[in-house]
Amino acid sequence: MNRRDFLSVCGAASASLLPLTHLRQAYANSPLAIAVQPGKISIVGPDFPATDVWTFGGSVPGQLIRVRHGETVDATINNGLTVPTSVHWHGIRLPNEMDGVVGLTQPPIEPKASFHYRFTPPDAGTFWYHSHVMAYEQVGRGLYGPLIIDEPDPPQVDRDLIWMIDDWRLADDASIIDNFGAGHDRSHAGRIGNVPTVNGRFRDVVPVRRGERIRLRLINAANARNFALSFDQLAPLVIAVDGQPVTPYSADGPVVIGAAGRVDLVIDMLGEPGSIAAVTDSFYREPIELVKFAYQKSVLRDEPLDADIALPAATIPAPDLSNAAHTEVVIGGGAMGGLRRAMMDDKWMDLREIARQGYVWAINDVVGNKLDMAPLMDLKKGSSVRLTLRNETAFPHPMHLHGHHMQLLSIDDQPLAEPRWVDSPLLMPRQTMELAFVADNPGKWLFHCHVLEHHSAGLGALVVVS
Ligand code: C2O
Ligand code: CU
Ligand code: CU
Repeated sequence: MNRRDFLSVCGAASASLLPLTHLRQAYANSPLAIAVQPGKISIVGPDFPATDVWTFGGSVPGQLIRVRHGETVDATINNGLTVPTSVHWHGIRLPNEMDGVVGLTQPPIEPKASFHYRFTPPDAGTFWYHSHVMAYEQVGRGLYGPLIIDEPDPPQVDRDLIWMIDDWRLADDASIIDNFGAGHDRSHAGRIGNVPTVNGRFRDVVPVRRGERIRLRLINAANARNFALSFDQLAPLVIAVDGQPVTPYSADGPVVIGAAGRVDLVIDMLGEPGSIAAVTDSFYREPIELVKFAYQKSVLRDEPLDADIALPAATIPAPDLSNAAHTEVVIGGGAMGGLRRAMMDDKWMDLREIARQGYVWAINDVVGNKLDMAPLMDLKKGSSVRLTLRNETAFPHPMHLHGHHMQLLSIDDQPLAEPRWVDSPLLMPRQTMELAFVADNPGKWLFHCHVLEHHSAGLGALVVVS
């Protein structure tokens, strides 16, 4: 069954008002124990069987972890699966040994074993956590959850919503098609699915009231799908990107959110009671409706709330551009990419030979097929780095750096009006980005494409800070 069939079958079912109930709103400042365990969720509604998934704490998205800025996240992860796992805290500038990268920062959490994660997030904002073992399968089966660090004094809103966006590849019976890591996905756009979801549900309906001000925290947890979201007649303001505050600006056109990216919006719901505002994705060819807001009869207020929405500025050390080492990082390979040869295991090889071993991507002509390879960058702690990141492939790559945020300075030589902190910038085909950061967090960090099939097919490298 293709997506269109799901869309036609489910159109009717979505008319009922299903509240988004998955996310338990609770502070997590007491120690948490989270079981990694199989579960069942209803993704496409009552006309289909429930889907077997893997979960953090019984639900997809997994258990909400929410602390106030300055508080410690203390979570014991108990592995109830029959395969090893781990947890990576995406976007958090944490100590290296808490980063969750098996083979680099910790051993795997074996079945029936546990691992105790404990760290104090330095930044308030919208983050997430996910498995970092066989991620293209484990995240694809549902192993992710939201991690929210609240500002001490957040902007006044009527509701703070978290939307974890995903994209599932389901068969006719709503079961997951388990061809994880398929060769075509590895060499093309990654595992693009046929059922896009918000908080694990296909085409949910979110009740709202006229006049409500909503802070909407978008988190893209999909293996590979990027989104360009339109909000109908609504006029969202962007207040944070990748967890870090920006000077609020109007979205003017679709809100683009690459795999692993986050965007915080403030939306004033100013439609008429009884009307609908649809949220639609148009990143790929045909627009897809994802979810809709449905105005209730009751009106909260007729004029938008008169309150400031700006977040306090980020507190990340600014790179010293006059003293920054410069590195050029070129992404090559993949289908239709034109890369002929690359280095793998310290040998130059023909790309066909490399592909025979399952790898297809390279960074600076080096295939990232293992974790003990020579680092792409070997940086002195406290030094500033400027990065020219160029995509010479036919596909978009959300490039994620662990342990740091980078300042995005320009895209295709066009300087940004205001440089912005990112941890997973979406680099479009043939695009060039200038980024800079202070290497202030010691350890061995991954720098990789967050299309999880691309990472597993060689699109990754090491950044060492010592
Ligand atoms: Cu969100 Cu290395 O990952
Ligand atoms: Cu990360
Ligand atoms: Cu990629």
